[in-house]
Amino acid sequence: KTIYVLNGPNLNLLGQREPEIYGRETLADVEASCARVAAGAGMEIRFLQSNHEGALVDWIHEARQAAAGIVINPAAFTHSSVAILDALNAFEGPVIEVHISNVHRREPFRHRSYVSLRADGVIAGCGVEGYELALKRIATLLG
Ligand code: DQA
Repeated sequence: KTIYVLNGPNLNLLGQREPEIYGRETLADVEASCARVAAGAGMEIRFLQSNHEGALVDWIHEARQAAAGIVINPAAFTHSSVAILDALNAFEGPVIEVHISNVHRREPFRHRSYVSLRADGVIAGCGVEGYELALKRIATLLG
């Protein structure tokens, strides 16, 4: 089973960007730990990042055929993107939303998530470990 792990804008700078909020691990580190956890659960991942909303929408469409589940950190698009919500609504498998930081402890504009209207689960404030937790949850949901 293939799981798409999708990352939104600015996450390419993970490790350098606001490390007091997002930590020092890079997105390549996150990809490596996701691949390890997925393999342990008999799954494989396609790990992707874009700063462009449409690219994320296109990957979600691709996932309709290619993926059994989606882990997504939509980053800033979480709080703005009806397009990503609509794309996820066209995907039938489990969707887990991840935020590295605890968005609920931050600015009020980060408290609303469009993606949460579709997500089967939401993990926030567990650091990059949240991705591993999300993959484990997807494995459970896929049985
Ligand atoms: C984030 C939280 C968002 O509010 C923010 O725009 C991000 C990252 C997180 O992982 O904590 O870019 O999704």
